Amino acid sequence: MGWNSWNKFHKEVSAQIVKEIADAMVSSGMKDAGYVYVNIDDTWQGKRDAQGVLQPNEKFPDMKGLADYVHSKGLKIGIYSSPGPQTCAGYEGSYQHEEVDAKTWAAWGIDYLKYDWCSAKTVYKEEEMPAVYKKMGDALKATGRPIVFSLCQYGLRKVSEWGAAAGGNLWRTTGDIEDRWKSMATIGFDKQVGLEQYAGPGHWNDPDMLEIGNGNMDAVEYKTHMSLWAMLAAPLLAGNDLRGMDDDTKQILTNREVIAIDQDKLGKQGFRVSKEGASELWVKQLEGGDIAVALFNRGDRADLVLAKWSDLGLSGKHSTRDVWAHADRGKIKDLFEAEVSPHGVVMLRVSK
Ligand code: GLA
Repeated sequence: MGWNSWNKFHKEVSAQIVKEIADAMVSSGMKDAGYVYVNIDDTWQGKRDAQGVLQPNEKFPDMKGLADYVHSKGLKIGIYSSPGPQTCAGYEGSYQHEEVDAKTWAAWGIDYLKYDWCSAKTVYKEEEMPAVYKKMGDALKATGRPIVFSLCQYGLRKVSEWGAAAGGNLWRTTGDIEDRWKSMATIGFDKQVGLEQYAGPGHWNDPDMLEIGNGNMDAVEYKTHMSLWAMLAAPLLAGNDLRGMDDDTKQILTNREVIAIDQDKLGKQGFRVSKEGASELWVKQLEGGDIAVALFNRGDRADLVLAKWSDLGLSGKHSTRDVWAHADRGKIKDLFEAEVSPHGVVMLRVSK
């Protein structure tokens, strides 16, 4: 869990913004809710010096100092590069400098690397991808510093099948998310199908960073976004401006009961059980025998959505708790039904 600069700030990210985001992560309650990584995405890079050591650009005058600052808040810091000669935004990549870059980041105190294919396609064949990623995975390990390794190659070549073997802790499964219902819904509902078998503690499918709070979806849709990512056991990387969040945004991002489903120790990725028209029923197994159940309505009109216990492999009476309403819904037999808002969700923790 953490934050990444790209979705909101793109090329505008700077050391000052990163510091203020770290401050806000603490003061807003995000840190207490479990968010820990403060990740700088593309556009921090400057040029290499005579020894080939990559320097940050003028927006980041002192990376070590910035990492120290973020660490002083009890948080961790992430950075971004590409296996190609250039990043997607045209900045210096790590091509032929994998080891020196890994060492540089470790010396700065970096805790997380997002490694984005981008221009690597101009110097490597696509089938070389697993080896190219493993090269950086090995270089990170060789530094002796624990650095989370995030693969970003848009789900090409069935990355879920080899991402973990390349040293990846998470791997993007699709192209870039946009702050629009259709983009979020297509990625979350449709593009993760069948990938659940590859997720587990330490190695996760990544449906991309959150757009919650960026303004082009409403609160109902952002709750659906958060619920889907939690059902998918997805990395939760906020992508909004944490300085001055409105109450809806803060409540959605810090809902402890929803986060507990995402972060559940069993590490099982949930999946769709059934789909009827615009209604979808999803389930996620949790530690200790509980299950999370989500009743989604992808349609444009309110609809009654059903969760039949038999479809969920349950029988008899089960306690239900609505994790968005923070309310117990009683011991239920056979069937739970709810009127769900357009683009909305009702999400439950069900226990024996
Ligand atoms: C790619 C990635 C994005 C972001 C940009 C930065 O598009 O998929 O997440 O990192 O590059 O240039």
